[in-house]
Amino acid sequence: MTDPLPLAGRAALVTGASGGIGLAVAAELAAAGARTLLTARDPARLEAAAGRLRAAGHTVATPAGTVADPGHLARCAALAVRALGGLDVLVDRTAFTVNVEAPLRLTQPAWRAWMREHGGTVVNVCTEGAGHVGANVGAHGTSKAALPHLTMQLAGELGAAVRVNAVSPGLVRTEMARFGWQGAEGAIAAGLPMGRIGEPGDVARAVRRPVSDKAAWVTSTELAVDGGGTRVRDVRTGRAAGTNVAAGAEGSGTGSGGGTPAGADAVRERLLGRRPAPDA
Ligand SMILES: NC(=O)c1ccc[n+]([C@@H]2O[C@H](COP(=O)([O-])OP(=O)(O)OC[C@H]3O[C@@H](n4cnc5c(N)ncnc54)[C@H](OP(=O)(O)O)[C@@H]3O)[C@@H](O)[C@H]2O)c1
Repeated sequence: MTDPLPLAGRAALVTGASGGIGLAVAAELAAAGARTLLTARDPARLEAAAGRLRAAGHTVATPAGTVADPGHLARCAALAVRALGGLDVLVDRTAFTVNVEAPLRLTQPAWRAWMREHGGTVVNVCTEGAGHVGANVGAHGTSKAALPHLTMQLAGELGAAVRVNAVSPGLVRTEMARFGWQGAEGAIAAGLPMGRIGEPGDVARAVRRPVSDKAAWVTSTELAVDGGGTRVRDVRTGRAAGTNVAAGAEGSGTGSGGGTPAGADAVRERLLGRRPAPDA
């Protein structure tokens, strides 16, 4: 007899789930047996993403909307309970203009609608880049840096019913981060202990760890998923490996200017050793 799927009977809500890391997380949770609610802004792209999961036999709900709208977040939580029968797992991986407020505004209705009574687990997708400063990423990095703190605060306030943890990726091969890795991937990978940039599935599998019942005593943690780039110095150059790359990639789409070619050039220059890293 095969083991039951570890998340069978659970319902999971994933934001920013029509592509990149969010879709990989939704697929990972669905494969583990969870019914999933996916949300993002573009309805067509969202339906296409959901179609891939449904084709694999999974139950998926897809309310489209922006996480910047607290009303949409409340509707998502209510719909998860109504259409999926609960809201046991919450994975908030959106960033953009709402790095801190959206995770808080989504956790509140999830708590009230389900988790307070039934328990649950929340994973906030942060970024290892929040631990560094860099050109053109100030607004994004500053707001992202607050998310691990919010994670700890919520872990304190919502325990013991709910565990709240963070997963912080380094540079991952997604559209958002394309400007950071395209054309510079070889140099970036060479500086990382694991010798490659991340794939969305790397982050998705990491999210499964704090979600698992086996992590029943794990809360308020932050798990770096970065190929070692946060803590390990490149043994060849002595520079912190990959750190500023992720910070630069994070600038894309934040309105802080990091997505500009100039920002990308600065990141690459630093990586390729033409400009010293600030901490070198
Ligand atoms: N990729 C990296 O290197 C990297 C590194 C560290 C951390 N991260 C974190 O991972 C997340 C970004 O993931 P990604 O790289 O996978 O990006 P992505 O491939 O660009 O995916 C972004 C997803 O979020 C949705 N989205 C964007 N704005 C939204 C909003 N206001 N409301 C609802 N959904 C929204 C998009 O769909 P719509 O446009 O249709 O809404 C899409 O589904 C961020 O939290 C980022 O800080 C990424």
